[in-house]
Amino acid sequence: MMHDQAEKLRQLALSSNAITKGTIIKKNCHSNNSRVITVTSGKGGVGKTNFTINLALALADLKQNVLVIDADLGMANIGVVLGCSTPYSLLNLLEDSKTMGDIVSDGPRGIKFIAGGSGMYHLANLSEIQLQYIIRQISFFDDWADFILIDTGAGLSKNVLNFVMAADEVIVITTPEPTAITDAYAMMKVYAGNQGYAPLRLVVNRITELAEGQMVVDKLTQVSLRFLTLPVNNLGFVFEDRNMVKAVKMQTPLLISFPQSIASRCIQGIASRLLKGEKTAQPSGIRVFLEKIFNFRR
Ligand SMILES: Nc1ncnc2c1ncn2[C@@H]1O[C@H](COP(=O)(O)OP(=O)(O)OP(=O)(O)O)[C@@H](O)[C@H]1O
Ligand SMILES: [Mg+2]
Repeated sequence: MMHDQAEKLRQLALSSNAITKGTIIKKNCHSNNSRVITVTSGKGGVGKTNFTINLALALADLKQNVLVIDADLGMANIGVVLGCSTPYSLLNLLEDSKTMGDIVSDGPRGIKFIAGGSGMYHLANLSEIQLQYIIRQISFFDDWADFILIDTGAGLSKNVLNFVMAADEVIVITTPEPTAITDAYAMMKVYAGNQGYAPLRLVVNRITELAEGQMVVDKLTQVSLRFLTLPVNNLGFVFEDRNMVKAVKMQTPLLISFPQSIASRCIQGIASRLLKGEKTAQPSGIRVFLEKIFNFRR
C-alpha cells in the first residue's frame, strides 16, 4: 500500500505535464528567484491576513506576479478575505494526486492563491519522495512569481517559527496595543534565539497618528538591538481605517473596495518600498524554502 503510493508519486513526479495547466507568464525579472516573504505576528488578530492580501494586490498593481499561500491552520482566512474559496489544499497534491493547476486559485488582479491547509504543517513529516513531488509541483512558481507571500497564524508555535526561519524575508505585524508590542518582542526573541539573522521588518498597523507608530518602532528597534542584537527595520505604518472593517464584511479586499482610503494608500506605499528598497536577503525561492522546512526536522 505504502509502496503503491510512493510508486504513483514517483511516476507523477516524472511526468512533466503533472506540473501545471494554463499559460505560464514569466515574471518580470527572470534572473532572480521569487522573494519568499513570511508575514507573522506575536499576538493574533493584529491584521496579518488583511495586510497580506492587500499587499499582494498592491504589488500586482506594480506589475508583480504574486502568489499568496495561506499557512494559517485556524480558519480559511485568506479565502474569506478574498471572497473566494478553494476546494483543495496542498495536501491534496499527495493524497489525491492533484496537480498544482488543481489547487491554485486565481484571485483578483492576477494574484494567485494556495490554501496550505494542514499540509503546510506536515511538510516536516513527509518522506523524501513526497517532498520531491511537492517541490517539483510548486517549483514552477519560482519561474512565475516575483513575490510569494505566506500568511501565518499568530504566535510562537514550532510550525509558524519554521515558516519564519525558512523565509527570505520576514514581516512582523503589530498594533500599538501594549500586549501586541510585548508579543511582537517575544516573537523576535525566539527568532533571535533560533539564530535568525535576516533583519526583521516591522509594520505597525491600526495607528491613529504617525507619532504613535514611531513610538512603537523606536521601542521595538531599541530593545531588539540592545537585548537581542537583532536589527529591526521599519517597513511602514498602516492607519486605523473604518473601511477595513467594511471591506472584511463585504468580502472584498480594501484595495479593491476602497482604493483611495487611508489604509489602502499606506499599504501601496509599503508595496513600493518593498519593491524599490533594499532586500534584507537574496531571494532563494520557494524550492529552497520548502527544502529548509524539510531539513528542520533533522
Ligand atoms: N488598519 C485597520 N484598520 C481597522 N481595522 C483593521 C485594520 N487592520 C485590521 N483590522 C481589523 O482587524 C481584524 C483582524 O484582521 P486580520 O484577520 O487580518 O488579523 P490576523 O492577524 O490575520 O488575525 P489572526 O491572528 O486571527 O490570523 C479585521 O477583520 C479588521 O476588522
Ligand atoms: Mg489571519
